Amino acid sequence: MIQTAKTQIANLLNPLTQLPVEDLQKTLEKPKQFEHGHIAFPVFALAKTLRSAPPQIAADLAQKVQVKMQDGSLPFLEKVQPAGGFLNFTFKDAYLQKILFEGLQKSNVGFSGIGKDKTVVIDYASPNVAKPMHVGHLRAAMVGQAIRNLAGSQGYKVIGVNHLGDWGSQFGKLAWAYQEWGKDYTFANPMDDMVKLYVRFHDEAEKNPNLELEAAATFKRLENGDAEIKKIWQMIVEFSLKDYDRLLNGLLKVKHDAVLGESFYTDKMDAVIDLLKKKNLLKESEGAQVVFFDEKENMPPCIIKKSDGASIYATRDLATAIYRHDVMKGDELLYVVGQDQTLHFRQVFKVLELMGFEWAKTCHHISFGLYRFKEGKMSTRAGRVVLFEDVITQAIELVSKMIAEKNPNLENKETVARQVALGAVIFNDLVNDRVKNVEFDWDRILSVEGDSGPYVQYTVVRCRSILRKYGKALPAQPSMDLSMEEERKLVFQLMQFEDILTASYKQFKPNILAQYLLEVCGSFSHFYHKCRILGEAPEVESSRIAMIVATERILVQGLKILNIEAPEAM
Ligand code: ARG
Repeated sequence: MIQTAKTQIANLLNPLTQLPVEDLQKTLEKPKQFEHGHIAFPVFALAKTLRSAPPQIAADLAQKVQVKMQDGSLPFLEKVQPAGGFLNFTFKDAYLQKILFEGLQKSNVGFSGIGKDKTVVIDYASPNVAKPMHVGHLRAAMVGQAIRNLAGSQGYKVIGVNHLGDWGSQFGKLAWAYQEWGKDYTFANPMDDMVKLYVRFHDEAEKNPNLELEAAATFKRLENGDAEIKKIWQMIVEFSLKDYDRLLNGLLKVKHDAVLGESFYTDKMDAVIDLLKKKNLLKESEGAQVVFFDEKENMPPCIIKKSDGASIYATRDLATAIYRHDVMKGDELLYVVGQDQTLHFRQVFKVLELMGFEWAKTCHHISFGLYRFKEGKMSTRAGRVVLFEDVITQAIELVSKMIAEKNPNLENKETVARQVALGAVIFNDLVNDRVKNVEFDWDRILSVEGDSGPYVQYTVVRCRSILRKYGKALPAQPSMDLSMEEERKLVFQLMQFEDILTASYKQFKPNILAQYLLEVCGSFSHFYHKCRILGEAPEVESSRIAMIVATERILVQGLKILNIEAPEAM
C-alpha cells in the first residue's frame, strides 16, 4: 500500500539527493491537500548541504525527475510538482490500484514488521479480587485490548497481563468475615455475597474497632502462609477469576496471556528492598520506609514499607516491573490504567530510574479519563459506581429492542445484538482521545447515522450486500483508470491504512484508527452516491466492485483491531 509507494519514491530520490533510502522513506509524508498529490517530499533537510533555498531545491529536483519520466523509466508516475519547499508526486491511477490490491492479498492487511524481535508487555483491565469490575476496568479493558492488537499489527510479540489485585490488607478483613459469618450466605452469587461480607465487616468494625485488629492479624497469618486462611483466600480468588473470565473473555472478548496477581510478587519484594537499601534510597519517615524525590519532581515520597512492616501496592509494582523486564523480556512496559493512578505510576517509574534501571524510560502509563453518564438509568448522580456488566447488558438490551422494532426478521438476532451493542460501546470509547472524559449518551452511541460504531458496522454490511447482489467472481487484479474524483479519494485513503496503524500504536492512541475508519466510511458514502456500480459497463462495474472489496476488507480489519466484530446483516 502506501509504504510500497514510499519505497518507490525513496529509491528514485536516493541517487538524486544522496540521502539514504531509509531516511527518505521516513521523511516522505502525506500532502496537506488531496489535490497536491499522493506523496510529498519536504526538501528542507537538503538546504544546509546544498546551500540553496528550499523552493529552488524542489524545482531542481522536479526537473531531474521529469527528465526521467520523459525517457519512460518511471511508468508509475503521473506527475511531479514543486510547491514551496516540497516536491509533490502524483501516481498513475492504475499503479495505486495495483499496490492497494497487492496489499490486500496479505493475510494480515496493514500489518508491518516494525516491532519484529521486540516484546511489549501490556497490563490492562486488572481488576481487584472480590469486587465487581466497574466502568474504569471496562475502559482499561477496551483501550488495553486495542493497544495490544495495535502492537501485534506492528509485529511485536505481545504479552497481555492481568495484574490481578489479589493481595493487601483487605483480604484479612474478608477472610476474617468469611470465617465468622460465611455460613449466613449461600455463595450462589459469590461476587454479591463477597461484597455483602465486606460491607458487613465495615459496618460492624465501626461499632467494634477490635475487628480491625482481628483483620490485621488474619492478614499477617495469610502473609505467613497459614493454610486455613490461604484456603479461604484461594477460594475468593477463584470465585472472582471465574466472574472476570465471564465478563472479560466471555462478553467483551478481551484476552490476556497471563494472569499474575499482586500475590505473585510477594516473594520478590525483599530483593527490591535490599537493592533500594544498597543504593541508599530507603529512608525512614514517621516509622515507614520511603523513597524521597528531588524537589523539582514535586511528588510526595513513595512508601515502600508501612510502619507495620507491610508492603504496599507500589512495592509490588516495583517488583512487577523488574519481573516484566528481566523474566518476560519486555522491551516496552505499558500500563493501561485510569488517570487517578497517575501519581502512583510517576512515583514507581521514578524509583526504578533512581535504582539505576536504564529501561525505566520504556515504561508508559497509558491513562484515560472518566465516563460521564447523561441523566437516566446510569446517571452517576445516583452516587453509585457504575458496573462494567451493567453497561454491557444495558447496551445489549437497547439494541435488541431496536432490532425487534426495525428488523424483526433478522437472522441470528442475538448474535447481531451483541455485536452491535459491543461495537457501539467500544467505538464510542476508542473514538475519543483517551485522556478526555467520555460523554456517555446512549442515543448517540447507538445511532447508525452519527460517528458511531454501528455506523461503521453498517457500512460493512452495505458493502457485503452489494457484493452479494453482484454475485459474480471478483477480479483478482482490477486494472483501469479511476474516472471519478470520489474513486481516487477512496483509493488513496484506503492506502493509508498501514501508516494509520503505525501512528496509532506509536502514540498509543486507538482514536487515530477509529477516526480513520469514520473517514473511510465518509469517503465510501460519497463514492457510493456518485458512482453507479451494478449495471455499468463490465470493466467499470468490476473496478468499482473491487473498490467495495477493498473498503470492506479494510473496515473489517480496522474494526477487528479495535476488538469489534462486523455483522453479516443488521
Ligand atoms: N487493580 C488495580 C485497580 O483496579 C489496577 C492495577 C493496574 N496495574 C498495575 N500494575 N498497578 O485499580
